[in-house]
Amino acid sequence: MTEKVQLNISYEVVSSIAALTDQEQQVMHLAQQATQNAYAPYSNYLVGAALMLSDGSLHQGTNQENAAYPSGLCAERTLLFGVGSNFPDQTMDLLAVTVRRRHETHFLPACPCGACRQVLAEYQNRQGKPMKLLMQAEGGKIIRLQQVEDLLPFMFTKDQL
Ligand code: THU
Repeated sequence: MTEKVQLNISYEVVSSIAALTDQEQQVMHLAQQATQNAYAPYSNYLVGAALMLSDGSLHQGTNQENAAYPSGLCAERTLLFGVGSNFPDQTMDLLAVTVRRRHETHFLPACPCGACRQVLAEYQNRQGKPMKLLMQAEGGKIIRLQQVEDLLPFMFTKDQL
């Protein structure tokens, strides 16, 4: 017998940054601003991420590339590992991700890679509280997810060990 199972993920598409909450706008703008600090001389693909913690503090991260390509790291993980190291007692409440190409001002759709999704899952599980996500989407729109499960169904967690 085969049972067909439907998996439900949900997300919202917000028409523009202006239609986000004030807090969300702040985090999104910080993520966009962070692209200026991306170190991406090989891909010229500038990724900026920003995070709001439970104490209201704001943090930024960018992709950091390396001449030995695999030694570089995505913006999301640069940010998450830095914050995880320095503010282990805070929860990570809201993360925004943006991308643009060098010498271009418009932002492209941003989509965290699989490895970053797994790291997001780890921190959300660690804090036991959903992490909200904002991702730049087509045409100035923003995708809003309420939890990492909506970005990484079937996530691998410590419960499987
Ligand atoms: N990159 C990120 O920073 N985040 C992602 O989620 C996707 C990819 C970076 C890695 C590399 O520096 C560049 O984008 C091209 O892959």
